[in-house]
Amino acid sequence: MTEAINIKNLTFRYSPDDKRNALDDVSLTIQQGEWVAIVGSNGSGKSTLAKTINGLILPEQGSVEVFGQTLAEENIWDIRKNVGMVFQNPDNQFVGATVEDDVAFGLENQGIPRDEMVQRVMSALKKVRMEEFMTREPVRLSGGQKQRVAIAGVVALAPKMIILDEATSMLDPKGRREVIATIRQLKEEENLTVISITHDIDEAALANRIFVMQEGHLKLEGTPADIFAYGEQLIELGLDLPFAEKLKAALAKLGVTVPAAYMTEERMLDWIWTSLLKK
Ligand SMILES: Nc1ncnc2c1ncn2[C@@H]1O[C@H](COP(=O)(O)OP(=O)(O)OP(=O)(O)O)[C@@H](O)[C@H]1O
Ligand SMILES: [Mg+2]
Repeated sequence: MTEAINIKNLTFRYSPDDKRNALDDVSLTIQQGEWVAIVGSNGSGKSTLAKTINGLILPEQGSVEVFGQTLAEENIWDIRKNVGMVFQNPDNQFVGATVEDDVAFGLENQGIPRDEMVQRVMSALKKVRMEEFMTREPVRLSGGQKQRVAIAGVVALAPKMIILDEATSMLDPKGRREVIATIRQLKEEENLTVISITHDIDEAALANRIFVMQEGHLKLEGTPADIFAYGEQLIELGLDLPFAEKLKAALAKLGVTVPAAYMTEERMLDWIWTSLLKK
């Protein structure tokens, strides 16, 4: 496997007067093609970590390697080509008057020839299933559609990695499902590395691995099953538990013997059906 990210002992503070570091001795690696979720309470350093990965912030102490290149002032632009970012507010991400103009914007900036540009815009819009909306005004789309257009704008630039910083947090459940399905599909088709920063624990449960941040530290890391096994300790880290895990805890309180391993909602439903109801 190829390493997408290798962060060693990264420490960062926005201002010398801050009472603590925004990132404190963070070390982690992410493999190419992985889907990683970063969770943690407000101010724990998630966005700061994302900003160091695409060079919006340069490390003061420690190092950040992105696809084998050590981040430094000279190669920020090279690295940024490989790392696309999508942010929280769908309305703050548009620069074009129409959907197609908007997706074309980054390509225009890179001086891509017109024919190729038209092709890449179309292909990116197809990938997020928004091609029918090409000539529409972005303001007239739903939140989920807007975020899919924002993703198309990133995908058109063919990055190897996409970072979603709470990109679904302002969407309704349908919008969230649309965006997550889009990301899943892109990940399969393009072997994209995905970093999703989220407060939605059910969304985090979809990742291959979860990183839990607390006050600038990387507190826990593991598969969703590993992480959810911490149970109520997670609440102290400012996290919620997935619905299936809450249900398990409630059943345990009623004296029901429940399996220790993490289960998705579907598996939980199966288990309830076969082990509890069919007895
Ligand atoms: N631009 C900035 N200037 C100064 N301090 C900042 C800046 N951005 C973040 N911080 C501080 O750095 C720390 C980490 O913030 P960060 O935005 O990375 O947290 P976060 O985990 O993304 O939080 P949230 O869940 O609220 O988005 C916090 O203490 C925050 O106050
Ligand atoms: Mg943030």
